[in-house]
Amino acid sequence: MQTRLLGDIKVSRIGLGGMPMSIEGRPDRARSLATIHAALDAGVTLIDTADAYHLHADEVGHNETLIAEALRTWGGDSSDVLVATKGGHLRPGDGSWTVDGSPQHLREAVQASARRLGVDAIGLYQFHRPDPRVPYADSVGVLAELLDAGTIRLAGISNADPEQIRLAQEVLGGRLVSVQNQYSPAFRSSQPELDLCAELGIAFLPWSPLGGIARAGELGSRFDAFQTIADAHRVSPQQVALAWELSQAPVVIPIPGASRPESIQDSVLAVDLVLGQEELAELNGS
Ligand SMILES: NC(=O)c1ccc[n+]([C@@H]2O[C@H](COP(=O)([O-])OP(=O)(O)OC[C@H]3O[C@@H](n4cnc5c(N)ncnc54)[C@H](OP(=O)(O)O)[C@@H]3O)[C@@H](O)[C@H]2O)c1
Repeated sequence: MQTRLLGDIKVSRIGLGGMPMSIEGRPDRARSLATIHAALDAGVTLIDTADAYHLHADEVGHNETLIAEALRTWGGDSSDVLVATKGGHLRPGDGSWTVDGSPQHLREAVQASARRLGVDAIGLYQFHRPDPRVPYADSVGVLAELLDAGTIRLAGISNADPEQIRLAQEVLGGRLVSVQNQYSPAFRSSQPELDLCAELGIAFLPWSPLGGIARAGELGSRFDAFQTIADAHRVSPQQVALAWELSQAPVVIPIPGASRPESIQDSVLAVDLVLGQEELAELNGS
């Protein structure tokens, strides 16, 4: 599998998003483990998760626990796998998502994530979503503390605008390695953040790169150009979407979610899909 740099760590050009295995509509544990194992077998070395990927209030970190178990039970060498988790989002258990970006919460959350992942230092820790009640620099300041203490190896942010990206880079003293924002054929309004990351040499991780759990299957029927080009290459429109995202800038690392082995096995093939300039122009303008 081709690699890209996330900070100073090499990761596969396509990662695995863990959310579909832990929220509404999730599969049973065996299928989730098989999905993560299929990703690892295919050469995926970046797995994205969050403490908030769970359903009920009493199972915070459901997805982190699942990933830790999958890494333990996989037959291969997982020492080069980077698990990227997040803190600052919460699920009270009634289906809603809330935020808490207070330094106290983030300090406690990172320790709990490290325990669930079974690591001394978290590979990549991302501040999940700005909390309007807390100055952004205070939330991101915790990441700086955690880097200094060695509790996390790399620091990233998510759902950030260009001003927040620049502020985070300043607060972290140039150590911001990634920005995770929504980006897909259906949602292109993170283009300014993607372009800024390309300019600054920061990894950009498109979330819901296929349009989200509920609509990923409809990608081809919603976006004709993606289906037409997929047909021409005899691949899925989802692969075309991921290849198109990869073409946007060398810093882009999509993290398609999956709850079935077949989904991630198909998605990783996008790294070898070469799209022509005319095709890319058509997709850009579609
Ligand atoms: N930072 C944030 O605020 C934030 C928000 C949302 C998501 N995320 C992260 O981003 C990741 C990806 O987003 P997402 O899971 O919401 O949406 P997504 O990646 O756009 O779509 C996920 C769905 O796509 C299907 N799929 C995957 N590959 C496919 C393929 N090659 N062909 C057909 N269908 C395919 C999967 O189906 P099956 O389930 O049937 O396998 C899966 O349920 C998440 O898992 C999470 O890690 C972050």
